[in-house]
Amino acid sequence: MTEFEKFFVNRPSHTREVVAHARELLGRISYQPGWRYLDVGCGVGATACEIAGASNLEVTGVDIDPKQIDAARATSARPNLHFRLMDAKKLDFSDGQFDIVASSMATHHIPDWERVLAEMVRVLRTGGYLIYTDFVFPSWLVKVVRLFRVMGFPSTTALESIAAGAGLVKVHQAQRSWKVDLIWLKNG
Ligand SMILES: C[S@@+](CC[C@H](N)C(=O)[O-])C[C@H]1O[C@@H](n2cnc3c(N)ncnc32)[C@H](O)[C@@H]1O
Repeated sequence: MTEFEKFFVNRPSHTREVVAHARELLGRISYQPGWRYLDVGCGVGATACEIAGASNLEVTGVDIDPKQIDAARATSARPNLHFRLMDAKKLDFSDGQFDIVASSMATHHIPDWERVLAEMVRVLRTGGYLIYTDFVFPSWLVKVVRLFRVMGFPSTTALESIAAGAGLVKVHQAQRSWKVDLIWLKNG
């Protein structure tokens, strides 16, 4: 992200909204103490920090931007909270390592966002939950703008096709304008 984008995305009022939203989505699933939660494209780590503080989850946040990760590490030192510098297209975790894998507003920054989804599914265990929030664009717009390959353009059609192919069962969907929330259960 550019410094200009970060100025908007990292500002406290925006961060508060994102955190409240992430907690609302997490509240929709019944999780167990000690479950491992991965936040992909965690930014400055506000959501990861809040979830680690408010739950008994083991939380890891990953982001590709060293400055974001530095800021995240500076926010909190909790035994159940870890941040790692990592490209979401190539997650350095084993298959099925996490019980919950979440991502908020990150995939549209990544031209081949489908690889990120595939990685998120890979590191999620069978019976775990994938929590996803991002923009979705109409399919015709995706076809046109995708030519430029400057950012990712998830569409509901593409998301549904990926989910079906990966054995994900939808347990929640809510759409607000061009943003979608999805929670899937990984069925295997
Ligand atoms: C709009 S911010 C969202 C931050 C936070 N999840 C939120 O909802 O506020 C997008 C984040 O995705 C990160 N990002 C972009 N490409 C990435 C990649 N390939 N791997 C990991 N993180 C990436 C950016 O560095 C940025 O921190």
